[in-house]
Amino acid sequence: MSQPTIESILHENRLFHPASEFSEKAHIKSLEDYQRLYEKAKADPQVFWADLAETELHWFQKWDKVLDWQPPFAEWFVNGKLNISYNCLDRHLTTWRRNKAALIWEGEPGDSRTLTYAQLHREVCQFANALKHLGVQKGDRVGIYMPMIPEAAIAMLACARIGAAHTVVFGGFSAEALRDRLVDGEAKVVVTADGGWRKDAIVPLKEQVDKALANGSVPSVSAMIVVKRTGQDVQMQGDRDYWWHELQSQVSAHCPAEPMDSEDLLFILYTSGSTGKPKGVVHTTGGYNLYTHITTKWIFDLQDTDVYWCTADVGWITGHSYIVYGPLSNGATTVMYEGAPRASNPGCFWDVIEKHGVNVFYTAPTAIRAFIKMGDEHPKARDLSSLRLLGTVGEPINPESWIWYQQIIGGGRCPIVDTWWQTETGGIMITALPGAIPTKPGSATLPFPGILADVVDLDGNSVGANEGGYLAVRHPWPGMLRTVYGDPDRFRRTYWEHIPPKDGQYTYFAGDGARRDEDGYFWVMGRVDDVINVAGHRLGTMEIESALVSHPAVAEAAVVGKPDELKGQEIVAFVTLEGTYSSSDALLKELKQHVVQEIGAIARPGEIRFADALPKTRSGKIMRRLLRDLASGVEISGDTSTLEDRSVLEKLRQG
Ligand code: WTA
Repeated sequence: MSQPTIESILHENRLFHPASEFSEKAHIKSLEDYQRLYEKAKADPQVFWADLAETELHWFQKWDKVLDWQPPFAEWFVNGKLNISYNCLDRHLTTWRRNKAALIWEGEPGDSRTLTYAQLHREVCQFANALKHLGVQKGDRVGIYMPMIPEAAIAMLACARIGAAHTVVFGGFSAEALRDRLVDGEAKVVVTADGGWRKDAIVPLKEQVDKALANGSVPSVSAMIVVKRTGQDVQMQGDRDYWWHELQSQVSAHCPAEPMDSEDLLFILYTSGSTGKPKGVVHTTGGYNLYTHITTKWIFDLQDTDVYWCTADVGWITGHSYIVYGPLSNGATTVMYEGAPRASNPGCFWDVIEKHGVNVFYTAPTAIRAFIKMGDEHPKARDLSSLRLLGTVGEPINPESWIWYQQIIGGGRCPIVDTWWQTETGGIMITALPGAIPTKPGSATLPFPGILADVVDLDGNSVGANEGGYLAVRHPWPGMLRTVYGDPDRFRRTYWEHIPPKDGQYTYFAGDGARRDEDGYFWVMGRVDDVINVAGHRLGTMEIESALVSHPAVAEAAVVGKPDELKGQEIVAFVTLEGTYSSSDALLKELKQHVVQEIGAIARPGEIRFADALPKTRSGKIMRRLLRDLASGVEISGDTSTLEDRSVLEKLRQG
């Protein structure tokens, strides 16, 4: 590949080739190997995926048909039978990996624990029996609201083992947000902990679950299981609440994995969209198992001696796919860390890498930016020489952070994989393969084999090189979401109709803006809908607006994102008040707290601006585009002729 000349808005033209020592040992060793795989998969996706399903996974029964595509509904490995917990655990027990570390856990206060594959298997079997003991059956849903402790992964695997679907809710969400998700998923049991450590404080998780379940507001839930983590006092309700350790001591450690249909529900994970309540993204068993397995293997180039660490929380898709299922299916050693980057311990990530000799490290741009701010002296004071590969996910990474990551953390020797994907895609879609694809800082590079990614206009036509457009996928893939839980129409509308189907050809609409350069490299620009990406967390403007409007003082609210150095984007809310209320600092604080109460601390607005009125079109739609420009302090661009009342904008400008 020759040195490209990129006319990029980023003016980024550096190209980094993988070192030959890296490539020689890698699973995919050269650009030619990648291209061969890509072309093979493109020519016949079904053969490509079927070959991998055959060689990489254990099946109790082989499928009859690789893909049944009734657009936009896909079924993969039809009538195949497997169990993802079997693939993550049992199949390793008959090999030397039996006594290999499966999970290395590091708690925020400095406690740690290692579970071998045999030990993890035992705990999972016990907990699966505990769930059964409480009446959980195949097809039921189990809510998981946990800190980053091994029991979170154990609970997920135990659900999968008996064929119950899990729905993990991030521990930073409020009781209200938890309740909505438990109601939508009709969870039967909730698994939680007394508390978890987050930035030197205890998050009272059990108390939040109590609030969520208060007054019978989630009628489907009949039991709660509580892990003793932090040890503070909690109220156990006699007929409903059980201690994890007590249940575990009462049940057998024998629990065969239930043969599941390839298309049986594996989990629901809620994610923000531009309108309405969060969507329950549905993932099923066979396709998800295969897709997370093979992406983990090739992208993180896992070798059997590697210690692999992904810093995500299991409450997000990254934790599901790349802390739990992908690595364990590969028989890897996966690290789980309870702590977050925090001022009181500015070297915390680097300590974990040094202590456990981490070889492959996967984190988010927002964490990288936070560590850049804390100073180079912290990573420099640690031995990071074990690292051989770095990854990033969650939002576009700016080239300067990329270079810092490469130099200061990677010592200039580690390839970086910038991985683009979504809750909906199940696994990584656009990324470098580290031994094969040269990287450009800020670009996620090329699509994974089997992924027919494209940049298109709203008619579905591919746009030219370096032209902006919408990120889209042309062909179904095994890890794709199957539907929105309980709302197939929303699934169709959200993902498959923005680009009108043509001649029976359906195109997946990702909701991101992107362009491809002359080498075919993808540059992802961020969301094109009303989704804000705050510190790598997806939040719908609508959810935050609804939270604000639920406060008695608020008449109308419009929420937009503005660029933020550390978090990527910051939430700015424009609010009009009900007649009897007037703006004050106290009210401002109260409104911010109200959003935290309704959704969680991740949704706290950075700024709230009181306004007399919001700019609207004649048909009554709030013109968020104008508010975005106002919030960012840039000149208002684009057409304002559809504004109903131009003076509103003037007032906001002056205000
Ligand atoms: C953004 C997280 C640029 C994007 C796995 C996407 C990225 C949304 C990248 C999904 C990346 C994720 N470069 N943007 N490498 N990775 N995004 O569902 O806007 O929490 O649509 O999944 O994050 O966020 P989600």
